[in-house]
Amino acid sequence: MKYILVTEIAEHIGEEIILKGWVRNIRHSGKLLFIIFRDGTGDVQCVAFQPELGEEKFDQAKHLTLESSVIITGLVRPHPKLEGQFEVAVTDLSIIQIAEDYPIGKKEHGADFLLSHRHLWIRSSKQWAILRIRHTVYYAICDFLHQNHFTRFDSPILTPNACEGTTTLFELQYFDEGKAYLSQSGQLYLETGIMSLGRVYDFGPVFRAERSKTRKHLTEFWMMDAEAAFIEHNENIQLQEELIRYVIQTVLKERDNELTILERDKEALKAADAPFGRMSHYEAVEYLRSKGSDITHQSDLGAQDEVLLTENSPVPIFVERWPKEIKAFYMKRDPENPDLVLGSDLIAPEGFGEIIGGSQREDDYELLLQRMKDEKMPIEDYRWFLDLRKYGTVPHSGFGIGLERLVSWISGVHHIRETIPFPRMIYRIYP
Ligand code: 4AD
Ligand code: MG
Repeated sequence: MKYILVTEIAEHIGEEIILKGWVRNIRHSGKLLFIIFRDGTGDVQCVAFQPELGEEKFDQAKHLTLESSVIITGLVRPHPKLEGQFEVAVTDLSIIQIAEDYPIGKKEHGADFLLSHRHLWIRSSKQWAILRIRHTVYYAICDFLHQNHFTRFDSPILTPNACEGTTTLFELQYFDEGKAYLSQSGQLYLETGIMSLGRVYDFGPVFRAERSKTRKHLTEFWMMDAEAAFIEHNENIQLQEELIRYVIQTVLKERDNELTILERDKEALKAADAPFGRMSHYEAVEYLRSKGSDITHQSDLGAQDEVLLTENSPVPIFVERWPKEIKAFYMKRDPENPDLVLGSDLIAPEGFGEIIGGSQREDDYELLLQRMKDEKMPIEDYRWFLDLRKYGTVPHSGFGIGLERLVSWISGVHHIRETIPFPRMIYRIYP
């Protein structure tokens, strides 16, 4: 007899197999016991019939509680009611542990209770489905980049300087070397990587001391930064669109069951797999003001603006060519208008907000140095970054995807805290 995973069950119809996992749910009626069994790869109904299992084992099985751990032996057969699904007729059962009274699932729980029990909450089907989609999104991004000749180039987390401004830095004392900071984005290091490898990306945790208590902000989240030599603003935007559409297609193909569990509107997701929208920051502001927003030409989009902007758009929208004052120092100035930079934000539809920030980078030594001086940055700390503009500088661009923002949108999960195993937010660090 073979130990198999639930996901492999269709290959074993008519065979006696072994499953190892947990009891998601249990119900009995007379001589029948229905166990909804899960093993991490899927759920399957296991049916124990007293005359077949024997009285002693059947009585033991009746004591199973939610989340008890078990090993089930049984025969795989088609599910009597659900077309294309299977169930297991239990022939033997051994209990690893009868779980204590499980705290989750008997009644509606508040968000705070669930977050405090995150170590258990991740077992529930919705959380399981989100984590599976997260895995697929992660994998699809790496796959796309690999196919497009990007090499993974891991950037450091402990850094001597800031990438995205100093207001959200987590600071620590680094032995006798002075202050160090947790990375906000690996971008500046990736810019060194392209001069060696041409196209690079990193994928890892980044940190921002965000005081904002919103549904879109974490203090620790996962970012994929991609950077490419000889890719300019327009191609940078095109690459982002291709990548996101590849992720959508992969999730629709591989995670249909999980999207169903989450009651995700799949048609909306399919509709997003079409040419993305594109407008300048100027145009976006004009449009938003015509819709009643009080945004100005010198300001960033607020959360409400992002919702308003994409309200009638089934596809994500790029907002590009931003006023330089409200964007990072490294963005290249727009050759058509020196007050603007060649940056772009990608805004997801359905109210999920910004999922990507990207730009062409300033590759001219003098212009970059001047911009850094204007911003009163500590030039000495960034010598290494400036060096790149002295030794074989080239036009280059890149972008950063917030993994959890992307997973929120793709899985249709309202709050970002459910898209990472252990969310870190201003008022939460346990468990
Ligand atoms: O727009 P951001 O700040 O861009 C950068 O950090 C660039 N250095 C990236 C690059 O060009 N390589 O952040 C990128 C993305 C945002 O679009 C958003 O999806 C996500 O990171 N993000 C957050 N996600 C969760 N919680 C937060 N506090 C986030 N801040 C940004
Ligand atoms: Mg941004």
